[in-house]
Amino acid sequence: PLRDPKELYADALKNHYALIACNVADMEMLQAVIGAAEAERSPAFVMVSMGARKYVKDFPKFIQAAKLYLEDSSAPLVLHHDHCQTVEDCNSAVDAGMQSVMFDGSHHDFETNIALTRQVADYAHAHGVIVEAELGSLPGFEDEVFAENAVYTDPSKVCEFIERSGCDSLAIAVGTTHGGVKGDDYLPMDMERVKEITRVVGDYPLVLHGGASLPPELIAACNAEGGQVEYMRNCSEASIAEASKYGVCKVNSDVDNFLCYTTAIRKFFRESPAVYDPRKYLTLARDAFQKEVQHKMRNVVNSAGR
Ligand code: G3H
Ligand code: ZN
Repeated sequence: PLRDPKELYADALKNHYALIACNVADMEMLQAVIGAAEAERSPAFVMVSMGARKYVKDFPKFIQAAKLYLEDSSAPLVLHHDHCQTVEDCNSAVDAGMQSVMFDGSHHDFETNIALTRQVADYAHAHGVIVEAELGSLPGFEDEVFAENAVYTDPSKVCEFIERSGCDSLAIAVGTTHGGVKGDDYLPMDMERVKEITRVVGDYPLVLHGGASLPPELIAACNAEGGQVEYMRNCSEASIAEASKYGVCKVNSDVDNFLCYTTAIRKFFRESPAVYDPRKYLTLARDAFQKEVQHKMRNVVNSAGR
């Protein structure tokens, strides 16, 4: 069923694990996340983004349908809107029935980020919806917004930001990137910063974006089926697992799932070029996505069985 995100955060904080949060934009991905949560008896966040809004064409109807699936599930689930860049987008996400919305004001200066997040929080809270904000910023592409350099979250600013903006959870920049960057090895995570932010905020939910690790094996598997995916690097699963033991209690992870989904379709097309029933290959894609989410739940964020 749909569960109160505050309760799920509290349990994750208390028991030192994190919740995996995955973007979905079609029935297969939605069912994959729900299927993973049920199979692992794990709580999870189902997310939609601005890109998904466009993709599904009728956003409010998609949300209504998604909620029916989530309510019917045996797993504890939350419906969250990822990366809204404007107050209006947040407000319409609240109106559409999200339980939690992210306002990404990370590209603004500190005071503007606070003021805009406050506006979002006032409207959301009046409707029983919680707000995720972001302080610091990640390199990489996120829904058409590109940032070149990381601005790591300054621990000395975090408490003032939370207090004045009214946000209920906070995304921090500590080394992860959106979609990875070119390089030969996993990126280092600034674990001392994670610990310091955890220390200053106390029992407060922190969020890690860019939580996919882009293991080279996943890219190689896709390319072995004819893909030409560039090798990109991000923080390792081990570092994300470690951060999940501190204050990080939501980890957004997409591109690894997307790679698995695409690899499954590529493999089917290569092996069975005569078959054209979409249900045949979308079943495999859905299963591959679900398997990857289950792996994250069990081996990375440690939410299985919670
Ligand atoms: O908001 C979405 C996430 O930050 C996804 O990042 O694609 O690197 O997993 P990722
Ligand atoms: Zn993100």
